Amino acid sequence: MKPSHPLTHDEQDRLAAAAAAAALNAYAPYSRFRVGAAVLDSDGRLHTGCNVENASYGLCLCAERNALSTALGTGARRFRGIGVACIDAAPGLGLEGRTPCGACRQWMVELAPDAEVVIAGGDGRQPMAVWPVSALLPDAFRLT
Ligand code: THU
Repeated sequence: MKPSHPLTHDEQDRLAAAAAAAALNAYAPYSRFRVGAAVLDSDGRLHTGCNVENASYGLCLCAERNALSTALGTGARRFRGIGVACIDAAPGLGLEGRTPCGACRQWMVELAPDAEVVIAGGDGRQPMAVWPVSALLPDAFRLT
């Protein structure tokens, strides 16, 4: 789905910066890979989340799903942007080390189908890439 109201450059910068700030709260003692996410709702409100790991590794929660569920919990239902910052990715690592995992893409398709995803750059701030959610998971599974 095409974003009806594309993010401005200022909104992209704000999403990247908010995601990088949220990553500082990550609970990532096992991977030591801190991730932050920020979600911009249709009322202009930002909601953030970080990854939260667990000794039972399969229970780790990604930053993107944390931010989305936090936003849903405040009543927000429509989203225009999702920022993601992997602040511990090696400086030379490109997009492959910074993009949302498959599970988070499936959540985005269901909960934020019209949003654009902003990947924060190596310095954790300037956007490195911007994609519509639909481009991240073509032919996604849906029940509705
Ligand atoms: N992680 C995220 O928070 N988001 C992603 O999209 C990919 C991975 C987290 C999960 C785990 O805590 C750490 O990064 C290393 O995989």
